[in-house]
Amino acid sequence: MSEPGVAGSESAQERLDQIAAQVRACTRCPLHRTRTQGVPGTGPASARLMAIGEAPGEREDLEGKPFVGAAGQLLTQLLEEIGLSRSDIFITNVLKSRPPGNRDPLPEEVEACSGYLDAQVDAIQPEVILLLGRHALQRLLPGSSGISRSHGRVIRRGGRAYMPCYHPAAALYNGSLMSTLREDFRALRAYLDAPAQAPAATLPGPPDPPPEAEQLGLF
Ligand code: URA
Repeated sequence: MSEPGVAGSESAQERLDQIAAQVRACTRCPLHRTRTQGVPGTGPASARLMAIGEAPGEREDLEGKPFVGAAGQLLTQLLEEIGLSRSDIFITNVLKSRPPGNRDPLPEEVEACSGYLDAQVDAIQPEVILLLGRHALQRLLPGSSGISRSHGRVIRRGGRAYMPCYHPAAALYNGSLMSTLREDFRALRAYLDAPAQAPAATLPGPPDPPPEAEQLGLF
C-alpha cells in the first residue's frame, strides 16, 4: 500500500490494484459484516468509458465482480449493441459491498465508499462516465435534476463528462424504459465517436472533493 503523496509514481493499473486490495479488506462501514466479499470493479486502467452502478447484488457479492446478474447481462448487451465490449470498460458501483436484501444504499455507506470511487476515477481518467441510475447520478453529480430529466445527454462538470441513464434493472422491471435506454446508449456512442460535436450541458461546480481518498492513503 502506498504512502499518501507517492501514488503519482505508480501506474494507473497499480493504483487500481491497490484500491481493489483495500476494498476487499475494508471495514469502514457495517456492510463488511454481512457481505461475502467486497466488489471493487473490473476493467482496464486504460478504459475510455467508466460505468458506475448502485451496489453489488447477490450474484456480484458471491462472484466478487460487478454486474454479473440479470442487470449485468442487459448492460453487456446494450454495450455490444453500440459496438463496445464489456472488457474495454471499467465497471464499478457507488457501494463496493452488498446491502442486505439489496436495499438502497444509506448515506453513510455512500460516504464510507466515496474515497474508493473517487480514487478509481482519478486513476482511470475516463473520457466519459456512464451513470447507471439515480444513486450514481446523486453521488457523482449532486444537485443535478433527477434521472428522468438528466438521462441521455452528456453533462460536463469539473473537467469531466458524464452520461446519466436509467439503471438496466429499471428497464428489466419496466419494459417501457428499454427503448429509452437504447436511445441513451446510442447517444453515448455518438459522444465517444465525436466528443466535441455531441450536445452537452455544463453544470457549475467541481465534482465532489475526495477528502476520504486522502485519509485512505489512496493519493
Ligand atoms: N449489479 C451491480 O453490480 N450493480 C448494480 O447496481 C446492479 C447490479
